[in-house]
Amino acid sequence: MKRINVGIIGLGRAGQMHLHNLMTIPEIHIVQVADVFIEKISTELNDLGITNQTRDYHDILNNPDIDTVFVFTSTDTHEEIVTAAANAGKNIFCEKPLSMNTVEEASVNVLRAVKKNHVKLQMGFNRRMDPQFRNIFENVRQGEIGTPQVVKITSRDPDLLPHDLIQRIGGLLFDFTMHDFDMARYMMNSNIAEVYAKGGTLIDPTLKDINDIDTLALVLQFENGAYGVIDNSRRAVYGYDQRVEVFGSEGMLKAENVSESTVELYTDKSKIMKKPLPMFVQRYRNAYINEMKAFVNSILNDEPVVASGQDVIMAQRAAIAAQKSLETGLPQKVDTNFSLD
Ligand SMILES: NC(=O)c1ccc[n+]([C@@H]2O[C@H](COP(=O)([O-])OP(=O)(O)OC[C@H]3O[C@@H](n4cnc5c(N)ncnc54)[C@H](O)[C@@H]3O)[C@@H](O)[C@H]2O)c1
Repeated sequence: MKRINVGIIGLGRAGQMHLHNLMTIPEIHIVQVADVFIEKISTELNDLGITNQTRDYHDILNNPDIDTVFVFTSTDTHEEIVTAAANAGKNIFCEKPLSMNTVEEASVNVLRAVKKNHVKLQMGFNRRMDPQFRNIFENVRQGEIGTPQVVKITSRDPDLLPHDLIQRIGGLLFDFTMHDFDMARYMMNSNIAEVYAKGGTLIDPTLKDINDIDTLALVLQFENGAYGVIDNSRRAVYGYDQRVEVFGSEGMLKAENVSESTVELYTDKSKIMKKPLPMFVQRYRNAYINEMKAFVNSILNDEPVVASGQDVIMAQRAAIAAQKSLETGLPQKVDTNFSLD
């Protein structure tokens, strides 16, 4: 069996989850892991048989036994680490987004380094590989609902994030909604050409202190003329709410929330069903494993990656337009031309 030799950088919330998922994929051989606070999880790593641990990610980049790195550090480090990894000749999987900046130059610089060094870069748009959403994607492509006209995405977290985490990984638009912009483009097979946004702090007014919001409603227009609607909240009291619908000239496709049980209780007063799975770790477990398998396949068989750096730029541009729309109260155009030359 062909294998890839892997270094993992960043073992916080996302990194620890990915580590466990990566360990289920036979083609992945974990050679070394790095985190600036590695001592916090050193015992757990030893118990998993991962003894080659370091605080300094350069050890991974300088390790000739490693051909591929997974970057799960906070977003404020992606630009530096991914650029260095590309210059070290490693293939890279990086969690989204590529930079904290609300201008795209930082992300473009990273993509230049990736191109120059002829390495692969896959971004963590895991929802593309979720079995339910993938099914919608394939049915849309096969023409089952005719011409797609409107995509509707509801994406709500179960609760607020700590402010210090938001400052490391980005706020609602540039971290959370980033997934929804990508999902909308992916489902409609068209770039987002215009964004109109309304949003504010209906849950936690102190988010204003760090320039963030907790509630957002978006109207999109795509290059192909179709429309999109996205709504986001940081607190849905009933759990992690993740739904997608695509409406077209010949019908509709929709994916409801996923629960741990399909059993529903009906009485004369109500219908009761299990709440949605609690958080991204549980809801998107299959998606995370599938995106990693797709990345391994893209390396071993030289296939295109399922989510590229350019996909991140397009989502980032939509987020920048949404930010401007919030500030001005007006719809904003999105430039959909992109070239690295
Ligand atoms: N795709 C998804 O569903 C999803 C879900 C959660 C988070 N994320 C993304 O994953 C990334 C990490 O988010 P998180 O919530 O796990 O953050 P986190 O703060 O919990 O974890 C980041 C980890 O990186 C380590 N780190 C930071 N700088 C480092 C460096 N220079 N070298 C080595 N280690 C370093 C930190 O010590 C920490 O353990 C973010 O980009 C976030 O947007 C994606």
